[in-house]
Amino acid sequence: MINVTFVCLGNICRSPMAELIFKNMVKERGLELDFVITSCGTSDCEEGNPIYEPARRTLAAHGISGSHFARQLTLRDIKNNDYILVMDSSNLMDVLRLTCGGYGDKIFKLCSFTPRPRDVADPWYTRDFERAFADIYDGCKCFLDYIISRL
Ligand code: 4NP
Repeated sequence: MINVTFVCLGNICRSPMAELIFKNMVKERGLELDFVITSCGTSDCEEGNPIYEPARRTLAAHGISGSHFARQLTLRDIKNNDYILVMDSSNLMDVLRLTCGGYGDKIFKLCSFTPRPRDVADPWYTRDFERAFADIYDGCKCFLDYIISRL
């Protein structure tokens, strides 16, 4: 079993998008029994809130549905997961602050698995949810290819 949690700041846009995109991708490859997939936020500012409507609409436009309620990341989540996949450099610093620099071997930026490592552009500020979707989709696809290559 491979435990994966996606992490952003609020857990209402990017990381729940990544959770649902990756769940969908894993299902398409018939691997859903091999993964436990969740998402969390580094902040508690959106605790309990559903997926932000523009993010939900963007997922739906790509045929992806599902729900999620925001939850703040804890040290236990980091201990219990094999991969902590953050969206940007700011998330990475926040997570490493939580771990006092530990667990670095399982904390990665999602798009570090792609041929073009980069941050997922934060749609909260850009309002470009399609661009965030494309970055997250690319990151998830390359991460899944990496996992499959190691099976
Ligand atoms: P997320 O987006 O981290 O992708 O869920 C944000 C959600 C809320 C805020 C910023 C980004 N905020 O500042 O409240």
